[in-house]
Amino acid sequence: MSEVTQQKDSQYYINLESEYGAHNYHPLPVVLDKGEGVFVWDVEGKKYYDFLSAYSAVNQGHSHPKILAALVEQAKKLALTSRAFYNSKLGEYEKMITSLFSFDKVLPMNSGAEAVETAVKLARKWSYEVKGIDENSAKIIVCENNFHGRTTTIVSFSNDPDASKNYGPFTPGFIKIPYNDLAALEETLKNDAANIAAFLVEPIQGEAGVYVPDEGYLKGAFELCKQHNVLFIADEVQTGIARTGKLIACDHEGVQPDILVLGKAISGGMYPVSAVLANDEIMHVIKPGQHGSTFGGNPVACAVAMAALKVVQEEDLAERAEKLGKLFRAEIEKVIAKTSLITKVRGKGLLNAILINDTPESTTAWDICMKLKENGLLAKPTHGNIIRLAPPLVITEAEILDCVAIIEKTVLEFTR
Ligand SMILES: Cc1ncc(COP(=O)(O)O)c(C=O)c1O
Repeated sequence: MSEVTQQKDSQYYINLESEYGAHNYHPLPVVLDKGEGVFVWDVEGKKYYDFLSAYSAVNQGHSHPKILAALVEQAKKLALTSRAFYNSKLGEYEKMITSLFSFDKVLPMNSGAEAVETAVKLARKWSYEVKGIDENSAKIIVCENNFHGRTTTIVSFSNDPDASKNYGPFTPGFIKIPYNDLAALEETLKNDAANIAAFLVEPIQGEAGVYVPDEGYLKGAFELCKQHNVLFIADEVQTGIARTGKLIACDHEGVQPDILVLGKAISGGMYPVSAVLANDEIMHVIKPGQHGSTFGGNPVACAVAMAALKVVQEEDLAERAEKLGKLFRAEIEKVIAKTSLITKVRGKGLLNAILINDTPESTTAWDICMKLKENGLLAKPTHGNIIRLAPPLVITEAEILDCVAIIEKTVLEFTR
């Protein structure tokens, strides 16, 4: 069939991706073409609630008019200078983001993984030049079942075989301990504090299946780090920017990390923007020429991020996430009472997951997501039998209830 006469339906686009793209993802078979607020539309014009928000990047909703305007206006004026020169947006953005999160300095990058890499490099350099660890001996404590991105160093400390198998040799210098286990952290610190630079942790493990640690874990871990002169690094790429009901998830326990890693929703999903925040005594160890990125801190990224962070404040997105998250979990508990298909709902703010009553190897969660799609709601399983549910934070109470009704109808009708 010629290019001209071929109908460009979903299958056409799926076939193109399958033929010409690397097969490093297994998407739900829906081809999205348009988004607005909490909704997305496929190429056939079917409308869906977006209950993934691009893995918590689109917290401000799709195509937010203020973020879009900032993107277009800045792109028309100046898009990229590199850091060889100053630009008229970076300083203003740096001032805004550092005052919003109460840090002296920010180091701008693009993707979440790059920001985590930056934090690892920063902590190592600090440990040699300030803490006084012998060169090449610094260790960083990480948690089992972490997800911090896909670079070679980051997958070196993943325990997901899919993420790491056959990508070695790996970067040494990481100690893995169980998540949500203060005793394990204390023991590891006591054994080797003199050689430990940092503890890197997700305040909620998102990719692993939305594991919320016990109350007091973050505070306890932070205090243990302080006792041993070890940096506390919070990877808030997924949990930050109001997703869990506070500006960052560490705010739930009044913890100000030594190094804060942000990404995704800094830009409302409009542009790849990530950031590493720290105070001067840490950030000053990186000097000109010692780290960087061509696109990091470019004028479009800065303009978009400023607009996106302003939307978070103007629309009280943290408060909305807190309130609507409580409502969502309470309503899902009522659904759980009517079915044995879901065993649990857990989460904080609007970062939630339901556990499906089947093995992680089963296709049940995937099959439920396919039915949810038919019923107008898009979500994706993680680790087999867990479905993450994370709508844009601009969702209304009525829309949350509508979505709970879709989930209820889907699971009550579900037959394998
Ligand atoms: C906690 C956490 N850190 C880092 C990343 C990596 O971000 P990116 O995909 O932008 O590299 C993710 C992505 O899901 C994440 O959830």
